[in-house]
Amino acid sequence: MNELMTSSRIKIEPVQNSKIHEIDFDNLVFGRKFSDHMVVMEYENGAWSTPVIKPYGPIEITPAMNSLHYGQAIFEGMKAFYVDEETIHLFRPEVHFERLNNTARRMCIPEMDYETFIVGLEELIKLDHQFVPKKEGTALYIRPFIFASDDLLAARSSNKFSYYIITSPVGAYYPEGFNPVSLTTTDNYVRAVVGGTGEAKTAGNYAASFLPAREAQEAGYTQVLWLDAKERKYIEEVGTMNIHFLIDDVVITPELTGSILPGITRRSVIQLAKDWGYKVEERKITIDEVFEASENGSLKEVFGSGTAAVISPVGRIHHQGKTINIGTGKIGDFAKRLFDEITGMQYGRVEDPYGWIHPVKVQ
Ligand SMILES: Cc1ncc(COP(=O)(O)O)c(C=O)c1O
Repeated sequence: MNELMTSSRIKIEPVQNSKIHEIDFDNLVFGRKFSDHMVVMEYENGAWSTPVIKPYGPIEITPAMNSLHYGQAIFEGMKAFYVDEETIHLFRPEVHFERLNNTARRMCIPEMDYETFIVGLEELIKLDHQFVPKKEGTALYIRPFIFASDDLLAARSSNKFSYYIITSPVGAYYPEGFNPVSLTTTDNYVRAVVGGTGEAKTAGNYAASFLPAREAQEAGYTQVLWLDAKERKYIEEVGTMNIHFLIDDVVITPELTGSILPGITRRSVIQLAKDWGYKVEERKITIDEVFEASENGSLKEVFGSGTAAVISPVGRIHHQGKTINIGTGKIGDFAKRLFDEITGMQYGRVEDPYGWIHPVKVQ
């Protein structure tokens, strides 16, 4: 195999034959196809190794591997956007990095430094830049993840860890326009408790939400709207999105209590809303307050925020036998403005006064 050494001393083992021809860029399905390469780094004897970029492919694991049994596994989700033949944009990678390290601390996984994270990612993007799709709304989804790799059945933190970054070209989230999602609360399950792992991006949080999500879908709703685990009345978040309410002209977002994932899109929404002159309240908000606002006509918009869809309008909420409808079946003006501004920066059409965009020169 041909080995290259980059200026940053990352070793690259390039593929012999690219799989780019296998990608149907007109019909991209989320997370099905992957780019040619991946970043790999191992932690052993108290230190991370130098990252290596290798061909994407199966990896060898042992049946006793810690993360398979005890779930010591964490991840991030971010995107790269095509701007032109020379430029790819990453959106707020340093905040994703911070969240990865915060998650790592909670899950007893060793942290890494920003240089290692960003250099590995940039080199991967440069090498696989042709996998970044070009059409409006498309992106290269980036999945950094770390799992415990001790070959030992012991319910305690592993001493060995593996870090990977894989990437996948993904299609436009809204090929036929914005379809508002419908949400339901659930009396049977909770997502996270304060003091638990809700604010960490760790595998088990998602596994535990699959059954409630399936039941919500069987009942005709897109996703579960999670309420707090203790009093079951304060709104927390949705499957893979944070949630925001426009009541009169105030933007209300559930405050980060420790059981909610601190979304990077959420943070961007709050910043933009403030800078546009909106009153923004990060506070506890009950499901009853939202239903009352709907009844008295002050609930203007409800939308979710997350890396996958950026902004998702919510059209219907069900709670304990009652349902409210929000808006007219289309995305609201405020949510649309946020969507246009954030995606505008991501694709390089709108100026970024915040330093959220991290350009990568690929040529
Ligand atoms: C549980 C959960 N909440 C919220 C979000 C939104 O976070 P972000 O805006 O950083 O993608 C995600 C997605 O990462 C998530 O998995």
